[in-house]
Amino acid sequence: MSAGRIAIVGASGQLGSALVAAFAGRDLVTPRHAEVPFDDSSAVCKLLDKAHPEVLINCSAFHNVDTCEREPERAFAVNALAVDGAAEACAARGVAFATVSTDYVFEGTSSRPYREDDAVAPRTAYGASKAAGEFLTRRHGPRHWIVRTSGVFGTIGTSNKGYTLIEKVLRQAERGEPTRMVSDMIFSPSYAPHVARAIRDLIDAAAFGTHHVANVGACSWYEFVRTAFVKAGLPDAPLEPITYASMGNPTLRPMSSALENTTFARAEIAPLPAWESALDEFLAARAARLAAARA
Ligand SMILES: NC(=O)c1ccc[n+]([C@@H]2O[C@H](COP(=O)([O-])OP(=O)(O)OC[C@H]3O[C@@H](n4cnc5c(N)ncnc54)[C@H](OP(=O)(O)O)[C@@H]3O)[C@@H](O)[C@H]2O)c1
Repeated sequence: MSAGRIAIVGASGQLGSALVAAFAGRDLVTPRHAEVPFDDSSAVCKLLDKAHPEVLINCSAFHNVDTCEREPERAFAVNALAVDGAAEACAARGVAFATVSTDYVFEGTSSRPYREDDAVAPRTAYGASKAAGEFLTRRHGPRHWIVRTSGVFGTIGTSNKGYTLIEKVLRQAERGEPTRMVSDMIFSPSYAPHVARAIRDLIDAAAFGTHHVANVGACSWYEFVRTAFVKAGLPDAPLEPITYASMGNPTLRPMSSALENTTFARAEIAPLPAWESALDEFLAARAARLAAARA
């Protein structure tokens, strides 16, 4: 069964725009940031009271990890308190609430991928604020989806960086410029259109709860980019593996935060493809886009 009207906050972002595509043809409301600042609870209430959605999806976040370390108040305002307010406003109106979270809620020291019921132990202000957003969502009742994803890649840049990492490194490789990538940080690459379709399916199946939504498998950032270069026909592009410590970044990130899904089978939802297949799909779409731009 399909959910009725769906409102998406953060619809212009990397994942939000993939969600808009995944829900194409459906009754969508997609206010811009300036129209509905998610951290303004009266604006969120007005959206709910005017649009009367069945579901509100929150794809907005303050997710520049290093800036969150310096500005934890802002991280908690957007990623925790605003999520709490929206979950409460939704519950009061009978609206189901979906919010996107992150692998950064975990400590990142596990030798196996994290499952939905593993204990959270964030190392960063960003991760702590997102974990708080999860806890605060759950206290407003069961009609919510908390979707943890990791290392999202797609064609639309994140609002804080303005580019996608994969696009940036592919362009560098095509120009013959060198790239350095961290080889000791493990994650689950997550192709935005695949994550978006899984969120759509979880919503349509009313499969409430906490879900890990990432492409199957895990790799280092170096391995991810190396594989992309090979698949893109650039096997000799200069690429140097480096350690995270060598970057001199003081933020203590989780070093191994791959995600495993254990909930899709129960909801009769197909698992996401392996990350290598997701890269194939991304590269095919990119090649088609570049060819269309040249024509
Ligand atoms: N990117 C990743 O690798 C990754 C990994 C794990 C989890 N996540 C989570 O996935 C979710 C989506 O991330 P993304 O990569 O799609 O981010 P994104 O590309 O930066 O998009 C964020 C969207 O939210 C909007 N926005 C930001 N602050 C807002 C606010 N206060 N009120 C209303 N709208 C606001 C932005 O609009 P403007 O651009 O107009 O400000 C943009 O449309 C986030 O919850 C993030 O924590 C991301």
